[in-house]
Parts: sequence; C-alpha cells; structure tokens
Amino acid sequence: MKMLTRNEAKELLNERTQEDYAGASKDAISHHYDNGIQFYKLWIGEDLYYTAAKYVDPLTDTVLREDYAEAQNAKSKFHLDAIGATSGRSLLDIGCGWGTTLKYAAGAGRFSEAMGITLSEQQGEYVKSLGLANTNVFVESYEHFNPGRTFDGILTLGALEHFAKPGMSREEKIATYRTYFSKCHEWLEKGGCLSLQCSTWNGVSREMAKRIVPSDVFPESDLAYESEVFEAAEPYFELHHYERSMTDYIKTIAYWHERLKSNRDEIVKLIGEEEYAFHERYMRRVSAGFKRRRIQLSRFVFRRR
Ligand SMILES: C[S@@+](CC[C@H](N)C(=O)[O-])C[C@H]1O[C@@H](n2cnc3c(N)ncnc32)[C@H](O)[C@@H]1O
Repeated sequence: MKMLTRNEAKELLNERTQEDYAGASKDAISHHYDNGIQFYKLWIGEDLYYTAAKYVDPLTDTVLREDYAEAQNAKSKFHLDAIGATSGRSLLDIGCGWGTTLKYAAGAGRFSEAMGITLSEQQGEYVKSLGLANTNVFVESYEHFNPGRTFDGILTLGALEHFAKPGMSREEKIATYRTYFSKCHEWLEKGGCLSLQCSTWNGVSREMAKRIVPSDVFPESDLAYESEVFEAAEPYFELHHYERSMTDYIKTIAYWHERLKSNRDEIVKLIGEEEYAFHERYMRRVSAGFKRRRIQLSRFVFRRR
C-alpha cells in the first residue's frame, strides 16, 4: 500500500471535525497509523505489537527475557491476568491497534466474547481480516462509542497517549481522562478490572513537555503525568497494581529500530527516503526520551469502585 504524504493524510475525509475529539482526531490518528500494514510489519514486526513489551522485573529492573516475541506475549499475558480474562468472560480492548492482544487472547482461549475499538480505518480492516471468533471491532473513538453492554474486563494499551491534546492545562487533562475512566466504569461489570499501559512524563516541567512532545510523529497527542491519571481515576477506580519501567521501552524500541535499519531498502521502496529518515529520527528521539528518564512506561491495574 502506498504511504500517504503528510498532506494527503490531513486531507482524508473525516465525518467528525477535529473539535469532536478531546484528544487526537481521526485525521490525526490516520496520519500516524494509516500508512499501510506492510510498512509497519517491516519494522515493528509481523505481529504488529505497537506498545512496550515486558522484558524486566519492574521491582529490580532485572531482565527476565531477551526474546522480543516472548516479551510481547508476556505483556499480553500480564494484562489478561490483570483483568482476570478466562474462557467464558468478555473483554473490551480500547485502542486495539492491529488486534495483537485480541489475537493472543483468542489463541489462548481467554475470552468468550471480545470487542476492540480503534480510530484507524486500516487497523479496523486488518483486525476484521484476522477473523477472530466472537470478536467485533469498531472504528470509533471511546468518546463516541456505545457498546450497549458491559464487559468483565477492559484493556487500554498505548492509547491514553492520544486522549489529550498538547496545550491542555492539568485541569483539562484530568477532566478528559476522567471521562475515559467514567466510561470504563460504566462499561465494566461490578468488581471488574481495567488494565492500562501508557507512556507518561517523568519529572519534566509542563514547559519542557510542550517543547519536546513529538507532534510531528503523533499530531494532537500529549502524554499524561501519572498524577493526572491517579486523580482522574480516583472517583471510579481503586488502584490495584502499579509498575513502571524505562527498560521495557528502551529494549522494545531497540528491536523496532534495528528492524527499521535492517529492512531499510524495502522500507525506502514503500515510503521513500525522506519518510524513512523521519522514522529513523523518531526511533532515536523516543529512545533518548526513555534513556534520559524524561518518559517512562507505566502500567496501572484499576479495580472498579
Ligand atoms: C500505539 S497504538 C497501540 C495499539 C495496541 N493496543 C498495541 O498494544 O499494539 C494506539 C491505538 O490507540 C488507538 N486510539 C487512539 N485514540 C483513540 C480513541 N480516542 N479511541 C479509541 N482508540 C484510539 C489508535 O487507533 C491505536 O489503535
């Protein structure tokens, strides 16, 4: 599939206007994610996991596994364990990407019914093409989604990063995240759990965050501070488990970056030199963010109040 230029992506028709989204709009998501599955497979891997794998023991930072696929599966298993996903139970994956965790869960027999939502048309089509049993996927923002039912567990892996726009005040961000938590509360069965994984700012002032947020890579998107997440969740959820790691993302990015470089020729054929160089720089920038400890990977398991 042809890579969209930045302008073509912007011109993509969108039935909702940017203002209909508190966070990144459908156009903004399309700009980053709708650039052809083959392009993504060449650098993030055939499985299309696009969030940090679970390599280390978060308490000691000891590397428990070196293999990328094993670490990604460990990440999926962690989140499914966190929400008590077993056969006979239902789950909702908010920001399901290319359906990687849904696919893992289906293969492991860890749900009876599942739903996934993404704002990317290409991801939605791709997940449908996987033909996972008893799984429905919708191209819809959680902001406008109405599942018409409840679930035993909810996952959100790597999507909260898109739920608030740069330039929002702390209060605006908390209000926005609170809407997300209130919806999860409404959609969860009593006692159900929400497992949330996201990159968050670490010890970075708001002024600096404004300067270093990579809006050219992820338009209309800003990271949360952990304190914003805790405060937003408070009325609806009690914190059941929390862990953080820089190493999990540093190692994940190193894997993607190596693949990007080793598949350079094929990638350049698909997207051209300029976009290749842009993605190479993107990998270096985010890796530096984690290595300098300005960003961290946070995992929160919340139990419904
Ligand atoms: C970094 S990807 C993570 C994908 C997947 N969870 C994984 O672990 O590979 C972020 C995902 O969040 C989705 N997303 C962003 N904003 C969203 C919104 N408002 N509602 C639903 N999904 C959203 C994107 O479409 C994309 O699928």
